[in-house]
Amino acid sequence: MDKFIITIDGPAGSGKSTIAKLLAKKNGFVHINSGAIYRALAYVLDKNVDREKLANLNLELSLKGNSIKVFCDGEDITDRLQSEAIGRVASKIAQIGFVRDYVNKKVRDLTETGKFVIDGRDCGTVIFPYADVKIFLVADLKERARRRAFETGENFDEVLRIIEKRDKEDSERDIAPLIKPDDAYEVDTTGKSIEDVYNEIMGINRRVYDNRNS
Ligand code: DC
Repeated sequence: MDKFIITIDGPAGSGKSTIAKLLAKKNGFVHINSGAIYRALAYVLDKNVDREKLANLNLELSLKGNSIKVFCDGEDITDRLQSEAIGRVASKIAQIGFVRDYVNKKVRDLTETGKFVIDGRDCGTVIFPYADVKIFLVADLKERARRRAFETGENFDEVLRIIEKRDKEDSERDIAPLIKPDDAYEVDTTGKSIEDVYNEIMGINRRVYDNRNS
């Protein structure tokens, strides 16, 4: 198998990266978090992104084990990107066409051959319309805010306020909005353990695989 792509799209806090990481680790896939690239651009350029700055940016994605690390000017910035404030700026600049083109190219360049699980907002619709398996994760808003607040150590009410805004912006933007791909399997992660969600997605993978080979 030269190439196998699983896409996982969904709103903030739906559990995409957690489950993508686990799927990658247990099945020998590489996990690519496309949101991390938008976050890196937000971290380095803030809202002042323009074509020239983007063209001069020295941003590299490097494969480490089952996931990618983001480097800017040779420095690993992966662990600095988690805050909701950066997520908010990322959501703003993700509305710009040339920013999306930049991120899509970075992701596609990394995924020419191999087995990947890629999470984001438009992975199954725009980046990989022909992905082998497409998952769309959803979860109750308050639970999503609780998860994000727990992960980042930020205030729950503040996180709730920001992810509500991000949801709206990500879903209502003109280019590559967050929508469920027609051929995606929806999985609701509300009240479920990571193991439960993992098993549900593995069940879907198996069904897709069996159907293809029957
Ligand atoms: O998944 P995340 O919270 O790290 O993503 C941060 C922001 O990046 C998100 O609010 C919108 C943008 N994004 C996007 O527009 N398309 C993607 N494929 C991934 C992220």
